[in-house]
Amino acid sequence: MSPQDHFPIQIATPTPDNRQLKRRHTARYYMHRVQESLTTRVSKFICAIFLGLLFFAGIIAFIVYLSLRPHRPRFIIEQFSIPALAQPNGFENAELTFNVTARNSNHKIGVYYDNMVVNAFYDDQSIGGRPVLYPFYQEPKNSTIIFGTLSGATLTVNNRRWMQFLNDRARGKIMFRLELTSTIRFKISTWDSKWHKMHANCQVDVGADGLIMASSVGRKCPTYFT
Ligand SMILES: *[C@@H]1O[C@H](CO)[C@@H](O)[C@H](O)[C@H]1NC(C)=O
Ligand SMILES: *[C@@H]1O[C@H](CO)[C@@H](O)[C@H](O)[C@H]1NC(C)=O
Repeated sequence: MSPQDHFPIQIATPTPDNRQLKRRHTARYYMHRVQESLTTRVSKFICAIFLGLLFFAGIIAFIVYLSLRPHRPRFIIEQFSIPALAQPNGFENAELTFNVTARNSNHKIGVYYDNMVVNAFYDDQSIGGRPVLYPFYQEPKNSTIIFGTLSGATLTVNNRRWMQFLNDRARGKIMFRLELTSTIRFKISTWDSKWHKMHANCQVDVGADGLIMASSVGRKCPTYFT
């Protein structure tokens, strides 16, 4: 054998000692790998349980939030009239009467109302207003009737405006808007929300007889907060 032949063989076949060392190293290496993958699996498992619980708690919180979320009160226009519109000299002693129901549709949430003010508008110009309700508490699933009359000092209609009403009347209908404004607070169990300024806007069409038209009776008044 030439040294050139011998040389590669020695490299290719390590001594028994060497081989054993390498095998021992490999075993330890695999053991380490197994241990490592075990710990990652355990930590992955714990992580999964934790995330699962978090997800579950999130869903429960969301359901609780949905069931406790307060719904704003619902306003519906029931009656509205200016009977004087049907009389020849009605302007002298005109009266505007209104009747609106406010319903708290929440199952468990009460509503505190601060003073409520009602304002009537024609062509987006105020034609009168007055306070209607003193502060009160509305129980869950309860309705409150808000009614009143605007006349004299609370009905600020001048002659020119009255002529506009009569012109509209000749064309079939007069359009008014009744706005109810209050500051409300929700009572959720023993916790009270902060105060929110609320507006309800009722669009009302009045016919030639000075009474609310059938199409407007029971119409919902959109509400918004400011
Ligand atoms: C207001 O309207 C409701 C529903 O139509 C009625 O029950 C109630 O008697 C009315 N109240 C007044 C004062 O007009
Ligand atoms: C609403 O509340 C008033 C006063 O608390 C009560 O007398 C009335 O029966 C209630 N109405 C309904 C429909 O629960």
